[in-house]
Amino acid sequence: MNNFEFKNPTKIIFGKNTIDKIATEIPKNAKVLLLYGGGSIKKNGIYDQVKTALAKFETVEFGGIPANPEYSILVDALKVIKDEKITYLLAVGGGSVIDGTKFLSAAAVYEGDTPWDILTQNIKTEKGMPFGTVLTLPATGSEMNSGAVITRKETQEKLAMGGPGLFPEFSVLDPQVIASIPERQLVNGITDAFTHVLEQYMTYPIGALLQDRFAESILQTLIEVAPKVLKDTTDYNATANFMWSCTMALNGLIQKGVPTDWAVHAMGHELTALFGIDHARTLAVIAPSHYKFNFEAKKEKLAQYAERVWNITEGTIDDKAYAAIEKTEHFFNELGIDTKLSDYTKEYEGTAEKIAQRFTDRGWLGLGEHQTLSPDKVEKIVKMAY
Ligand code: NZQ
Ligand code: ZN
Repeated sequence: MNNFEFKNPTKIIFGKNTIDKIATEIPKNAKVLLLYGGGSIKKNGIYDQVKTALAKFETVEFGGIPANPEYSILVDALKVIKDEKITYLLAVGGGSVIDGTKFLSAAAVYEGDTPWDILTQNIKTEKGMPFGTVLTLPATGSEMNSGAVITRKETQEKLAMGGPGLFPEFSVLDPQVIASIPERQLVNGITDAFTHVLEQYMTYPIGALLQDRFAESILQTLIEVAPKVLKDTTDYNATANFMWSCTMALNGLIQKGVPTDWAVHAMGHELTALFGIDHARTLAVIAPSHYKFNFEAKKEKLAQYAERVWNITEGTIDDKAYAAIEKTEHFFNELGIDTKLSDYTKEYEGTAEKIAQRFTDRGWLGLGEHQTLSPDKVEKIVKMAY
């Protein structure tokens, strides 16, 4: 096992009817900016619960943060923060609203010329404006980590940022919010969380027995609860397990002491930037090709995953490893997620070359757990995913 340090300061408030607890978490004298997305919270009652809890606080609102949080809109929110002398941010939404809020937390204290530099120069925020979240969509794990991904339409870019100062102070996880989530977003959430675990697990054995079993247990739980959640979004036990699995998949715990990959996300983000494909779907497009292309390097973990998660016990390591890739793709398909780029766009020709060129331009010359996935290999993987 590799050496590691682990600190996660986010307080999780989990369970039924817990949204009102935000009132005791936000400092009494705070001037709060309530941030939300396209308005789903106004239809499902979450907005009313939040407003009731915020009754005693001086509050300003900023709605309209879109899926794949858009830089130009966030710049408008930043102006509100400065003009209104906001001291505390409250994100009410899914990964997009929470990520947008993290960007604002960083940008509010940033002293450079343009806050876009935070993304292009990979500036790590040590201390941002404090913020909390009310999670409305389990998927990204953003509610308990310090990363964010921001999109800029103007340049068709989607870039990651983060830093130790960007953990939410608290996150409220009430599984009852899942009742109103459309099926498309539910299956996205399952797929995203599943792939988060794979990115931190599908590398090579390093003797981290506990981390492996944490990862496998999250995958098994997602497989078990997925059909139940899709069948009935008010099944409390199923939705509670789904929500907690998504958070645990990317709160830092399972990646401690182990190698991680993240190349699927790096390639997937480009597909969202170029075609607007939902984040989770881009992962389902890239992952099978990625695992086939890197088969030799990953086959021991693929075979372990085959045995422990999919109960594939027959055959050689190669047989099991290959079957595991097929099972994974089948799992995504069963959820209704297409796994080829051509299922989403007819304009796919040239995409692989474009992504490889972008990675070269950014100096991303060696991705993956061995830092050997060069742009020419990225090009081959993306082509395999057409
Ligand atoms: O905008 P509203 O009206 O709220 O509607 C949203 C949105 O249209 C809707 N929704 C959310 N909660 C709902 C609901 N509809 C009904 N009932 C509810 N309770 O769902 C739609 C999608 O929301 P979004 O926040 O975009 O989805 P998700 O949570 O999947 O977030 C995706 C974003 O997170 C980034 C992705 O790249 C993408 O930009 N990621 C962030 C990560 C992180 N910070 O750690 C890691 C991930 O790998 C990912 O890259
Ligand atoms: Zn993801």
